[in-house]
Amino acid sequence: MPDIVVVDDLSKTYPNGHSALAGVSLAIREGEILALLGPNGAGKSTLISTICGIVTATSGTVTVGGHDTRTAFRAARSLIGLVPQELTIEPFETVRATVEFSRGLFGKPPAPAVVERVLRDLSLWDRRDSQIRTLSGGMKRRVMIAKALAHEPRILFLDEPTAGVDVELRRDMWAVVRRLADTGVTIILTTHYIEEAEAIAERVGVIAKGRILLVEDKDQLMQKLGQKELRVELQTAVPALPAEIAREGLSLSEDGGTVIYVYDRRGERTGITRLLSDLAAAGLTLRDISTRQSSLEDIFVDLVKENT
Ligand SMILES: Nc1ncnc2c1ncn2[C@@H]1O[C@H](COP(=O)(O)OP(=O)(O)O)[C@@H](O)[C@H]1O
Ligand SMILES: [Mg+2]
Repeated sequence: MPDIVVVDDLSKTYPNGHSALAGVSLAIREGEILALLGPNGAGKSTLISTICGIVTATSGTVTVGGHDTRTAFRAARSLIGLVPQELTIEPFETVRATVEFSRGLFGKPPAPAVVERVLRDLSLWDRRDSQIRTLSGGMKRRVMIAKALAHEPRILFLDEPTAGVDVELRRDMWAVVRRLADTGVTIILTTHYIEEAEAIAERVGVIAKGRILLVEDKDQLMQKLGQKELRVELQTAVPALPAEIAREGLSLSEDGGTVIYVYDRRGERTGITRLLSDLAAAGLTLRDISTRQSSLEDIFVDLVKENT
């Protein structure tokens, strides 16, 4: 897939001297769902606001569909739909009028069929004539998305679409995002929820302190960094591991009471059976065994810790 957004060496220092982005480069592929995952204050909103032209970069460039956001702002912006973090909708307006109005803001002629399709995609068609104030929180969020899609953008930015939302609503939102992706829209969402990135993204970019630490296919990320750990608690602590059981991934806890074996959870042969029989042959008696799997959470926590 070709890149639809290219961010090159982007930096942003706010007037108060705060450096929110420091040399960010990122290529977004047409049609993908990319999650920008990072803790609060990482620079996620600054990054997408800069891409969308709401915040002016201190240095660096952004192109959207080949258009430079500085020299060809209108062309670039017309390809983008942005759903900001806060709800900003008129309570007394109807759903349909709100969406039609947003389309008009982009100078696009009225297109009832487009508005209908957007409202249907977001399961809002039945409520098209309702005033916004009568809608549930989840519906209001979907109206925000409908507004952002009204001018038929090819790229949709969602800034923390489920921040402060309960689990149920969050799952609804994930389903909505997946459905939109199926219509061919490129989706970039920011989140500080690891499980959100894990649940919907095809690629994950980890951002902390204004830098992108990595961007990787989610599955590869999980595979590369997702390891499993077997912990064998010994009946009696030992001063060192017997030489005859040494192997890659094997270590002894500091107190000598637990043998720790780290292995690739996707491996065909994990070597566990062999390890356990070797432990027995070396005269070590087992008291208990447990395993734990590293999740995107561990990976994320490690990364952010290392880099901040
Ligand atoms: N208008 C602003 N003026 C000064 N500092 C700002 C402004 N907006 C954001 N910041 C700071 O920049 C950093 C990144 O903010 P933001 O992009 O909102 O992060 P995130 O969206 O990841 O939580 C934070 O430390 C924040 O306080
Ligand atoms: Mg933010």
